[in-house]
Amino acid sequence: MTSQPRPIPPPATTGEAIVVPLPRRPRTSDPRAARRAFLAAALRNPGKVGAIAPTSETMAEVLTRIVPLAGAPVVVELGPGTGAVTGVIDDRLSPQARHVAVELDPDMASFLARTHPGLEVIQGDAVKLGALLAEHGVTKADAVVSGLPWSLFDDATQRSILTQIADVVGSEGAFSTFAYRHGLLLSAARRFRRVLHETFEEVLVTETVWRNVPPAFVYVCRRPRQPAES
Ligand SMILES: C[S@@+](CC[C@H](N)C(=O)[O-])C[C@H]1O[C@@H](n2cnc3c(N)ncnc32)[C@H](O)[C@@H]1O
Repeated sequence: MTSQPRPIPPPATTGEAIVVPLPRRPRTSDPRAARRAFLAAALRNPGKVGAIAPTSETMAEVLTRIVPLAGAPVVVELGPGTGAVTGVIDDRLSPQARHVAVELDPDMASFLARTHPGLEVIQGDAVKLGALLAEHGVTKADAVVSGLPWSLFDDATQRSILTQIADVVGSEGAFSTFAYRHGLLLSAARRFRRVLHETFEEVLVTETVWRNVPPAFVYVCRRPRQPAES
């Protein structure tokens, strides 16, 4: 965990995404190979992947604003797929940082491990997040960035994963996740928004990123609510 002051992310707004690109490190992953690996996984397991193409770079920039630029933060990424967001997180991190990724699909997990040498890849189910992280010595994270397909999860699974995320970010960390704009018409997406508000005191909604297929926005959540006394 870092003791450095953390940068304050820009406030949530509406309108176009204003994205200030950071200097890029050379990417080890060939984007075409990543797209091919993503599509293969999506066709093999559509009910788990929940998308047919990786997230756009603009979307990834908005999603990763919560990642501290300085110090030695611990960053946990959920559902990294073939690394569309992973590389953008790495661009923000200092060499002292720790970046741990939890991916369910074994082929995507091994693709990531091959293409992102500094990344700690855990192949496993985010529903066991607390136990998986504990096995790797992680009990707190400065940021949890999610690419999980929430609308494919039932209510109990959403709540279980969100509770574990809330435990790991604690009162000082932040959690971000994206949602497709058209999804708000679906009850599963509206239920997810409700569960976010039940789990966190602060839930901000960013501008819509139109340069994503399909257009999406990001939820930025902080300060888990205290569990009710029984
Ligand atoms: C919509 S894709 C996002 C991939 C990538 N983050 C991106 O933005 O391009 C969802 C990813 O979550 C993974 N996933 C789905 N359910 C999961 C679970 N229970 N635990 C961990 N990963 C999961 C899928 O295998 C897939 O890689």
